[in-house]
Amino acid sequence: MRLIPSKKILALTLLLLSPHGTNAECPDLLALRSDFITSELFEANQLNNFYYEQLYHDIAQVGAKCQTLNVTSSDSDDGVINMAFSVKYGPVPFTINEIYTPTKAGPGLFNKNADMPGGKLLTLPTVVMDVAPDYSTMTLYSCLELPGSNAVRELVIATIDPEPSDETVQALIETAIDAGVDIKREDIKAVDYCP
Ligand SMILES: *[C@@H]1O[C@H](CO)[C@@H](O)[C@H](O)[C@H]1NC(C)=O
Repeated sequence: MRLIPSKKILALTLLLLSPHGTNAECPDLLALRSDFITSELFEANQLNNFYYEQLYHDIAQVGAKCQTLNVTSSDSDDGVINMAFSVKYGPVPFTINEIYTPTKAGPGLFNKNADMPGGKLLTLPTVVMDVAPDYSTMTLYSCLELPGSNAVRELVIATIDPEPSDETVQALIETAIDAGVDIKREDIKAVDYCP
């Protein structure tokens, strides 16, 4: 019989002692923003473009493929951004219209809703953590605390280039984790490019 390594016992004990653990709490979304986002240079309407999702953490995207985001800001100057999120589950493609309404908390901080029945019920506080200075990449993080449960967390890293280099993708993931994204690297999934 093999002995259970003591580290495992320790980890298990810690898990049992903290049913709400750190998973229940969201980080300070404002603190995740890069210098570019907090500077006066960032203009959310510059995100208007067609992006290919490269990496994600999102329960709702399990089993999804070919995720893309068509970003358009509304005509009025209310700062609202629309993202037509297209995805395939199996052979069936469909599009969810996501609406990002700016908050007064600070530049880059939005409330995200889906434009579909019930979509207004779930409002996900979302931060544009980082963009490339030419807006060719974007990193979005959402977190919503739920009573008595783990928080809902989403991470989306997308690029205009459908097939960026591994180095580019790796650098984006490093930057997000260094900035304080509380998602384990192995829980961040890659999107396969679909021509
Ligand atoms: C992106 O959305 C705009 C506005 O709805 C539309 O005109 C355009 O065709 C879309 N682009 C793609 C590649 O789907």
